[in-house]
Parts: sequence; structure tokens; C-alpha cells
Amino acid sequence: MSEKDIFVLGIETSCDETAAAIVKNGREIVANVVASQMESHQRFGGVVPEIASRHHVEQITLVLEETMKQANMNVSEIDAIAVTEGPGLVGALLIGVNAAKALAFAHRIPLVGVHHIAGHIYANQLVQDMKFPLLALVVSGGHTELIYMKEHGVFEVIGETRDDAAGEAYDKVARALQLPYPGGPHIDRLAKQGKPTIDLPRAWLEEGSYDFSFSGLKSAVINTLHNAKQRGETIQPEDMAASFQASVVEVLVGKTIQAAAHYDVKQILLAGGVAANEGLRTQLQKQVEQLPEVELVIPPLSLCTDNAAMIAAAGTVLFQQGKRATMALNANPSLLL
Ligand code: KG4
Ligand code: ZN
Repeated sequence: MSEKDIFVLGIETSCDETAAAIVKNGREIVANVVASQMESHQRFGGVVPEIASRHHVEQITLVLEETMKQANMNVSEIDAIAVTEGPGLVGALLIGVNAAKALAFAHRIPLVGVHHIAGHIYANQLVQDMKFPLLALVVSGGHTELIYMKEHGVFEVIGETRDDAAGEAYDKVARALQLPYPGGPHIDRLAKQGKPTIDLPRAWLEEGSYDFSFSGLKSAVINTLHNAKQRGETIQPEDMAASFQASVVEVLVGKTIQAAAHYDVKQILLAGGVAANEGLRTQLQKQVEQLPEVELVIPPLSLCTDNAAMIAAAGTVLFQQGKRATMALNANPSLLL
């Protein structure tokens, strides 16, 4: 007897993308729609929460309609609705949570709350089956976390940033170099043209810690630029970009490889917007070769940045495990994994 296919509608509005998607059996994307607001935030040099909320309100119905149209499905054919309940911007999260609750209530569909980071990790399941135990490095504008997973749905945060997220550090350094927002891709591009000749710190922290810290590095960049200016010297922006990137990548990759060896994992997954970084991808690929038993999985970029297919994929696992949210589901900006 063949088992019935499971279709999950995912909804994601935690930051600056309004997204909805339908995923079949947790692995196959049926429809995937992302409305980005990046342009509206660009002139402010960062995401403005009030503007984000307003955009989500304007976009959510359109995005949901477009998703159903792309999938050529009726809401009645959906088995569960998975929505990001946190972490993120509270006003932004609320729009997705309320849309999900309204749909679930009106059509009597089971509702599942998903942690945003679980979503980022489960983006990998849309590419390749997860092999446990595994280690996920989640690096985005809001997060820098090393997560150990023994099995489906069980997350152990073994390291996280103590201050800025990796992407945030990229964006702040980019701003100091007068590059547009979001600065990550610009630094990545410049880094390729420059040489890592400027001496910048590496935040390894205490022996054995898998935590990260990027604010000292960010300050070192700003101070170096400032001091050079005072002395009337010029620093080549591409050399600064290359030096900054070298520091970030060395620590991210170094700690990931150490943790992968220590926890004896079968897979390393890379997730989040900073996974687009060429320096990071290349170094990680190179250094994983030290661990011949370990497989490295990096999803395509469209699944690394915020999307709802990853939320639907994570939600499918929770749904199959019997997890359900009630109509009391609320946005939780500091939800723990
Ligand atoms: O995952 P994401 O799209 O949104 C969040 O959930 O934060 O990540 C966005 C972050 C931004 O900080 C952006 O500068 C960074 O990812 N980013 C990059 C690159 N592409 C995007 N950082 C470094 N190198 C890149 N190529
Ligand atoms: Zn994200």
C-alpha cells in the first residue's frame, strides 16, 4: 500500500521577505514564492521593523494566492500549515502567524509552529537527505550558530555568536567602507580583488568554545580605517575586504571543522544568507577534505536565504512527529531552538 503524499504550506515573515511555499513529503518543492523588500530598506542601510511589517501586510495575501496558483492546488488539498513563530521581528512574525492561523481555522487544517533556524537547516532536506549525526553552520544577517543534530527535530546549539551575527558584521564593515546595503556580497566581490595584508584579530575565544564573536573584528576594521585617515594614508578597500573576510572565514571554518571532528558527524550543512560567500564556501570545501568521512552539503542560494520552502520542509517533520500548534500560537521574537 502506498502512503498518501503530504502537502505542507509554509509561511515565513520573520524579517524582510514575505514568503509562502508548498512542499510535498518534506522534500519536493511544488511552489515557492518570495517577495523581497530589500529595496525599501536599502536607503536606511538596514531593515526598518515598521516598514517590514507594513510590507508583509501588503504582500501576504498576494504571496499566498500566487503560491496556490503556482502549485495549481486548492487550500483543501493542504495537509498542514507550517509558519515561522520566531525568532525574528515581532511585528513581522505576527503577520505570518495570523495569516497561518486564519487559514488553518477557516479550512480546519492542522497548524505547526516552526523555529526559523530549524527552517534554515531543513532547507538541506530539499536538496539531499540528512544523515545523522550532523552539524549545521547557520550564518545569516541575524544568526551565527553551530547546531548539532542527533536525529530529526532535535537541535543542540553548541556554539553561537556572543555579539554580532556574521552577516551583520559584513554589513557594518561594508558600511564603514561606504558600500551599499546589504554589504556582504560587495565585500565578497572586493575580497577577490584584494590581498589579506592588513593584520586583523581572530576571535577564537576560550579553548574548546564553539562560540563566535565578531564585534572586536568590526571595531578593529573601523579603527584601522580611522587611524589611516588621520595619518593621511590610504587603505585599499579591496585589501581591507580581503583581510576582514580572511578573519571571518578562518574562524567560521576552523570552529566548524573542529566541532565536526569532535562530534564525529556524517554531514556538515551550511545555511543562511552568508552561505553565498565564495570565500566561505571555498575554504569549507577545502578543509572538509581533512575529514574524508564527512559530507558537505550547501543548498542553492535561493534556499540559503529566507524562504518558506524551508519552513514547510521543517514543518513536515514536526507534523509527522505529531506536533501541533493551537489557535493560541503567538509570534515569539526570541524563541529558543
Ligand atoms: O539569510 P539572509 O538572507 O537573511 C537573514 O535571515 O538575515 O542573510 C542576509 C545576510 C546579509 O547580512 C548579507 O550581507 C549576507 O547575508 N550575505 C553575504 C553574502 N551574500 C549575502 N555575506 C557575505 N558574503 C556574501 N556573498
Ligand atoms: Zn534567516
